[in-house]
Amino acid sequence: MGNPSQNWVILSIILFLAFSTYTDASAKTKSKSKSAVLYSPKVELSPGITSNKFYYDVKFLKGHIALKNFNGEVVDEEGNSVPLYEAYLHHWALGKYRQTINSTSTDDIVLVRNAGVCQGDVLPQYFGLGAETRKTETCIPDPFGIEVGNATEIPAGYEEKWEINLHAIDIR
Ligand SMILES: *[C@@H]1O[C@H](CO)[C@@H](O)[C@H](O)[C@H]1NC(C)=O
Ligand SMILES: *[C@@H]1O[C@H](CO)[C@@H](O)[C@H](O)[C@H]1NC(C)=O
Repeated sequence: MGNPSQNWVILSIILFLAFSTYTDASAKTKSKSKSAVLYSPKVELSPGITSNKFYYDVKFLKGHIALKNFNGEVVDEEGNSVPLYEAYLHHWALGKYRQTINSTSTDDIVLVRNAGVCQGDVLPQYFGLGAETRKTETCIPDPFGIEVGNATEIPAGYEEKWEINLHAIDIR
């Protein structure tokens, strides 16, 4: 508060979205779950500023797997949680899309929904919501999981990628 230089500091906030557990979907025997922490692209904010962007072709887990749970958390560059009174996560949404191989534009992006009840224009994301869902349990009980990366479901000439929409508000 008392530090005048604080007004000039740009806080880098890395929004991620940690912890998905997954299993090998094609394994015959029940395989052990694994977990991973993935970081979204860095979001830079300063007091009073909002960032609402779509990030395409984000890093995601490779292979044919079943997602068991997936949670998001806003962290700073050291990986520490950022409190909501500094960066309010208005929403985050992780989605899958298909695009022609080696495409350089975003015009041919087609969202690929999960196979659940939300179809049409309703909730296209695989996981996500906002600050109010922080630490919400998303675990999908055995023997179920959200299958992703099944190569036989990708039409010839297309590739499957992931995008994330992050809307954060710096409320310092
Ligand atoms: C992969 O997708 C195909 C086509 O939808 C389906 O028949 C097959 O069962 C899937 N593979 C696994 C291991 O679930
Ligand atoms: C995509 O790009 C890679 C690397 O340049 C190339 O090897 C491949 O043939 C391209 N595929 C298509 C379908 O354009």
